[in-house]
Amino acid sequence: MQMLKYPFFLLPVMLLMLACNSTPPSANQALDRKADSVLALMTLEEKIGQLNLPSAGQFTTGQAENSDIAKKIERGQVGGLFNIKSVQAIREMQRIAVEKSRMKIPLIFGMDVIHGYETTFPIPLALSCTWDMNLIEQTARMAATEASADGINWVFSPMVDLCRDPRWGRIAEGSGEDPFLGAQIARAMVRGYQGNDLSAPNTVLACVKHFALYGASESGRDYNTVDMSLHRMYNEYFVPYQAAVEAGAASIMTSFNDINGIPATANRWLITDVLRRQWKFDGFVVSDYTGISEMVDHGIGTLPEVTAKALTAGVDMDMVSEAYLNHIPALIKEGKITERQVDEACRQILKAKFRLGLFDDPYRYCNEQRAKTEIFTPENRAFARRVAAESFVLLKNQKDILPLEKKGTIALIGPLAHAPENMTGTWSVAARHSEAISVLQGLQRALGDKARVLYAKGSNLHDDAAYEERATLFGKTLRRDSRPAEVLRQEALKVARQADVIVAALGESAEMSGESSSRTELTIPKTQSELLDALLATGKPVVLLLFAGRPLVITKEYEKVPAILNVWFAGSEAGDAIADVLLGLASPGGRLTASFPRNEGQIPVYYSQKNTGRPLEQGKWFTKFRSNYLDVPNEPLLPFGYGLTYTTFQYSDLTLDKTSMGADDTLRVTVSVTNTGKREGTEVVQLYIRDKVATVTRPVKELKGFEKIQLKPGETRTVTFAITRRHLSFYNNELQWVCEPGDFEVMVGRNAADVLSKTFTVN
Ligand code: BGC
Repeated sequence: MQMLKYPFFLLPVMLLMLACNSTPPSANQALDRKADSVLALMTLEEKIGQLNLPSAGQFTTGQAENSDIAKKIERGQVGGLFNIKSVQAIREMQRIAVEKSRMKIPLIFGMDVIHGYETTFPIPLALSCTWDMNLIEQTARMAATEASADGINWVFSPMVDLCRDPRWGRIAEGSGEDPFLGAQIARAMVRGYQGNDLSAPNTVLACVKHFALYGASESGRDYNTVDMSLHRMYNEYFVPYQAAVEAGAASIMTSFNDINGIPATANRWLITDVLRRQWKFDGFVVSDYTGISEMVDHGIGTLPEVTAKALTAGVDMDMVSEAYLNHIPALIKEGKITERQVDEACRQILKAKFRLGLFDDPYRYCNEQRAKTEIFTPENRAFARRVAAESFVLLKNQKDILPLEKKGTIALIGPLAHAPENMTGTWSVAARHSEAISVLQGLQRALGDKARVLYAKGSNLHDDAAYEERATLFGKTLRRDSRPAEVLRQEALKVARQADVIVAALGESAEMSGESSSRTELTIPKTQSELLDALLATGKPVVLLLFAGRPLVITKEYEKVPAILNVWFAGSEAGDAIADVLLGLASPGGRLTASFPRNEGQIPVYYSQKNTGRPLEQGKWFTKFRSNYLDVPNEPLLPFGYGLTYTTFQYSDLTLDKTSMGADDTLRVTVSVTNTGKREGTEVVQLYIRDKVATVTRPVKELKGFEKIQLKPGETRTVTFAITRRHLSFYNNELQWVCEPGDFEVMVGRNAADVLSKTFTVN
């Protein structure tokens, strides 16, 4: 047996481990035994303590010891902490746990590391638009390396909530509307965070969230109700969570919403039947922030009652409510729950600590040297810059306005043009906001003295100062200008008139998306769109640089503005990456992963809809008694998968290697893609399938494959996809995973609305 380097309760643990056995146990059994050997030595109170996850707040080194948290740690009432940054602060808390508490069990340290750590990558929705799983995995790997260098060993990511409602601000944190793509991204991120060995000092526990269906909150209002058929859950919304579990995610966070009447955090069917039994999840389940105590407001019981419900449902760890700590002892006495349930939850937490290697070395992640050398490094930042360019989606580029030439005068105008604090986007708690690169800084650096950049703010974010305040929290200031809108606009026009081209940096601020940032109007705020109109009226070419944490409604802008580059919130290197793409040093590599609606009334609008019994004929806008609207076409303004780049591609020769197949055969689909433009560029070749007749109604198309390719001008590549049973199967209404014989359509193209198609039959 390997000797532990960390000998607090070594003897009893070792004796117990030796006592248990003969045949070598599986890794999981071995973990169970290790955890059980510790459990056997713990009092009930100490076990309950392991289930408690308070938020630490930030301490100045030296003060921690006298804080309330420190006293709780000393009494064995804390299993882990989050919201604490710096190796020194973390080391201090860990020391209290392993030197002063009776059981000396190390703590885990969590943080919302969502899209990078100090080196910040584009917001997750933007990252998903890269359609590049290697790149996404590397961002998670790098985030894990930086976070673990700073003492963190547990990240509250990936957020895999499927979302088809851009009113919901947290669409920014996920991967868009599609289950297939969402699942691939979920796996890539878990792999990136956790690597192959969780005990390595640069890997961390992933925490998949928010389980489940949080992205389907009614009316896009945060924390709201979810009511959904099982059929839809299993075929669509569950898919990315299950993929993350299959990839070995070590923890999962329950969501705030209720599901068909039972809050997720009290939902035994969800956590125990689906997650643990059907999906065989063997990590730990943590509630979201005060998720347990909030169930009192959901109206399903008193605090002790909801506490019992959460534990019985299968929630192992209580984030912030302290309901487990305060109510479990009495609940056991009253016979409402059992000590065995506490043991089960505690075992999961201990197992995670063993997996991290914390029992060998509780300071494994507290390496001051690493903190100095591995965070926010020039290499990491260079990578983030490259990733950002891959996430930008070119929505329109009339007359090839973009890329701009490196000469003449560029007028850079707008409230987001020089707003470093906003570049990192929502949920970037570890970022160095003021060191993020603004567009102005990026452009000036890239152009040097080759061209002149003139800058004016042009407008505030919003006419309403109170709105602007709500949308610029957490230090993400936009330095509101107190002058009247007309004065700001005239100042900008003066600048614009001197330029050869105008770049208008407009849209949302970072905190207009994210948690508790739902909107009902998804347009660019009025004062900014008036500024844009005034800029267009100068007659100069205008490029709209669109900042957004969600698909915005840009129907008017799309008609009027010749070039639109959607840059989301691109992270700490945003300005440099934007300059790279504006000037053609890099090409925009992104394709939309969520449809852009024409107006808010179309929501939810997504490509994988059902046909209905009265579908509209192709190419029509309106036919009486068909499924359509009087005022807008059914299609979104911009479909899923859409995006241009600085070259063009042509698709041809869609070929199937057979027209009928057995369910266990493989069908090969090939298509030729040619770069028909003048520059090298990347294209995301997308494959969709339609099951034309089934025992339940099926979507008109579903993404089942994609490949990102890079082609030189004139180059042609044949892309091949292999279709197997897995791509053709779905959950029927009895929730059986079936592949039903019959006719299928396969479609390949550049986006969900622009495809070549062929049919085949499954016998
Ligand atoms: C969010 C989670 C987050 C947690 C901890 C909650 O408000 O919903 O996504 O991980 O806070 O900060």
